[in-house]
Amino acid sequence: MKRAAPKPSAAKPAVYTDPLAEVLRPGQSVELLKELHILTRDGKLNQDSRRKLKQVYHLCNFIAPLIDEVLDRQDTLQLADHGAGKSYLGFILYDLYLKDRPGAHIAGIETRDELVAKSRDLATRLGFERMRFLNTTVAEATRTDALPDRFDIVTALHACNTATDDAIRFALAKQARHIVLVPCCQAEVAAVLRKHKNASFGKTPLSEIWRHPIHTREFGSQLTNVLRCLQLEAHGYQVSVTELVGWEHSLKNELIVASQTGQPRGDARARLAAILDACNLTELAPRFLE
Ligand SMILES: C[S@@+](CC[C@H](N)C(=O)[O-])C[C@H]1O[C@@H](n2cnc3c(N)ncnc32)[C@H](O)[C@@H]1O
Repeated sequence: MKRAAPKPSAAKPAVYTDPLAEVLRPGQSVELLKELHILTRDGKLNQDSRRKLKQVYHLCNFIAPLIDEVLDRQDTLQLADHGAGKSYLGFILYDLYLKDRPGAHIAGIETRDELVAKSRDLATRLGFERMRFLNTTVAEATRTDALPDRFDIVTALHACNTATDDAIRFALAKQARHIVLVPCCQAEVAAVLRKHKNASFGKTPLSEIWRHPIHTREFGSQLTNVLRCLQLEAHGYQVSVTELVGWEHSLKNELIVASQTGQPRGDARARLAAILDACNLTELAPRFLE
């Protein structure tokens, strides 16, 4: 009796997929991703760095068209990244979009000495010669002569507390065309809400929102971003507010992109002043109204 031929296995043949293909863009430096510890020394990707990279890539997708818009008009581009940390954002922007555009410069602003020293060292080793790093606060960076008078793009990714507000001030002083912010928690507004809580109870029923500390903190954080948007609109920026990536990636996930139009929103200042008054926040007028 003839033996039946073995049936072909139902299982699909294993297809090799290179895990790096999903993270590497054409021409991208593997060395950079290793140095940023996004890839391990033997070129593997870990979960934490995958998350960080996803967030930074997503942000890059918003920033790339702004870079193109500036470089379509002029040969030079100055980009400042505030609260740069390890400068993931600056390095990846430079590597993907700026290394072959000789007029483009990035300045990373960061207060932690060791991070600034590491970024300088890495930029030197990679030959990213149009990147520089200032060991200073955002507020001081606005005043220093070491930086140009004009910046085209200002970014601040999770710059702590009021450093995002200082980045807005920097951008306004430097007449930035585009401002890209992913704010961190801002504690200042919530602290002032809390300070005037008793006065607010008699003034507005909304003050129930700041009866409990957790509500005060969250409301203060949201309100801060509302005030920032109005501030930018009062200065002639068109503002869009979206979610950066899914909430599973970060709780600090609000993306504010502002582009200068030269036409301030007519009622923005008045709305801002009215909110400050209604919430007993007038002592913060110098922060948001100047
Ligand atoms: C949460 S980390 C974010 C780092 C980086 N942007 C990122 O997303 O990976 C915030 C960084 O801002 C820096 N920082 C905080 N306040 C600052 C200030 N006023 N001026 C400059 N840097 C500041 C901190 O040292 C820290 O490295």
